[in-house]
Amino acid sequence: MTPSVRRASPADAAALARLRFDFRAELGEPTEPSAAFLLRCESWMAKRLDPSGPWRAWVVESPAATGSLWLQLIEKLPNPVDELERHAYITSVYVAPPARGAGAGQMLLNAALDFCRQAAVDSVILWPSERSRTLYARNGFTPPADILQAVLHPGRSYASAGSVVS
Ligand SMILES: CC(C)(COP(=O)(O)OP(=O)(O)OC[C@H]1O[C@@H](n2cnc3c(N)ncnc32)[C@H](O)[C@@H]1OP(=O)(O)O)[C@@H](O)C(=O)NCCC(=O)NCCS
Repeated sequence: MTPSVRRASPADAAALARLRFDFRAELGEPTEPSAAFLLRCESWMAKRLDPSGPWRAWVVESPAATGSLWLQLIEKLPNPVDELERHAYITSVYVAPPARGAGAGQMLLNAALDFCRQAAVDSVILWPSERSRTLYARNGFTPPADILQAVLHPGRSYASAGSVVS
């Protein structure tokens, strides 16, 4: 069976939370027990998958391939000149290890980029893993020449980041 990609719905939240856990656990030892994480992540994702919000996700499915990609639309301020008014942030692009290198990641990216073109998105940003840079380069991603980034918490520990304000 050829893998197919579809837009995720709130009913996919549990499976997507599992993929998110697997993705992050590949990169470092989890500090949160998996059961607690899966519960809060599923709840977070179920709410975010409501299409009235800024988040979208796609899943790739076949007996051999499971994977997902998340995208957040970022609003720009309205402006009076001829300029598109939103960007997009792609994150958590993940295909389960046995299926890698067979085109599933490209299919997820195609779905997300097609959506962005139709949604009049200006720029798409993402933070690649080292090994995935070739995939993104083939799809038009280049290092920016014109944005600045300030990393406020170089240790990236949630606990060390202090209080969360809204
Ligand atoms: C990145 C990833 C989603 C791509 O999915 P895929 O189905 O393997 O990708 P495709 O078969 O469509 O394309 C192959 C490309 O994927 C990337 N890729 C392949 N295996 C990879 C791996 N183990 N880790 C990271 N990227 C990988 C490479 O860019 C590769 O291109 P290349 O062989 O010409 O260098 C998938 O490999 C993965 O989940 N990797 C681990 C998580 C990750 O690095 N995510 C990206 C963070 S934004």
